[in-house]
Amino acid sequence: MKTTSDFLKMKSKEDKITMMTAYDYPTAKFAEEAGVDMILVGDSVGMVVLGYDSTVLVTMEDMIHHGKAARRGATNTFLVVDMPFGTYHGNIDQSLANAVQLMQKTGAQAVKIEGADDVIPVIERLTFAGIPVVAHLGLLPQSAGVLGGYKVQGKTAEAAQKLIEDAKKCEQAGACAVVLECIPYQLTAEISSNLTIPTIGIGAGSTADGQVLVFHDLVKYGSHHIPKFVKEYANVGEPILQGIRQYVEEVKSGIFPSLEHSFTMKDEQLNQLYG
Ligand code: KIV
Ligand code: NA
Repeated sequence: MKTTSDFLKMKSKEDKITMMTAYDYPTAKFAEEAGVDMILVGDSVGMVVLGYDSTVLVTMEDMIHHGKAARRGATNTFLVVDMPFGTYHGNIDQSLANAVQLMQKTGAQAVKIEGADDVIPVIERLTFAGIPVVAHLGLLPQSAGVLGGYKVQGKTAEAAQKLIEDAKKCEQAGACAVVLECIPYQLTAEISSNLTIPTIGIGAGSTADGQVLVFHDLVKYGSHHIPKFVKEYANVGEPILQGIRQYVEEVKSGIFPSLEHSFTMKDEQLNQLYG
């Protein structure tokens, strides 16, 4: 399994880091088989799997449930679990207890938390306790209500400057990587060259040290809104829908199940049964 020092080496060798979300056993298994460097059990599970319209409703129990399933599917891949909304603000001891619980119950290698400002001491505290922390800056889905929606961040010189400083603070606090979401690629380049730790971009251009995408977006699985920055690598939704439609049709018309998909009793036994 790769470690945080492998990711530092990858950055220094300009070897791009690949990350993808997975929330269950089969997807995590596919990700590992395909050679994904890091798996993220993102709280995006709330939107793409549980059908919520934001990540705010996702709980510790949800993250543990999905984290355990993903872990079972990918026993040999660096696994990052998102700390859900409201579990790492306020009381720092409670934040640490929550992070410890996520690590111990899921077997993850790291946790991810959104933001800077009051989150910086949390990064420091968790790191000091031995928990690798992935920071997350730019568009913060857990703060979409405060940000006024899912918008590109860091477009003004002032906002960009704040993000450059925040990223540096995350690194200084001990973060092992930083996810940059929905920011201009020029800003991603600036932040990445300022840091020793790798940046993992999503909607942040090719100038990040790695990329992350939501599994359900990249294979088009589900009917949720797909953001502009996603490339469609597969469209599994279509064959799935087609398959289910045909199943329904064939049951109604008596085509399924045929003898081929049925079990048979020998004539001799049948004769005995009916005398
Ligand atoms: O939850 C998630 O999928 C994420 C990615 C967008 C980085 O946090
Ligand atoms: Na997330």
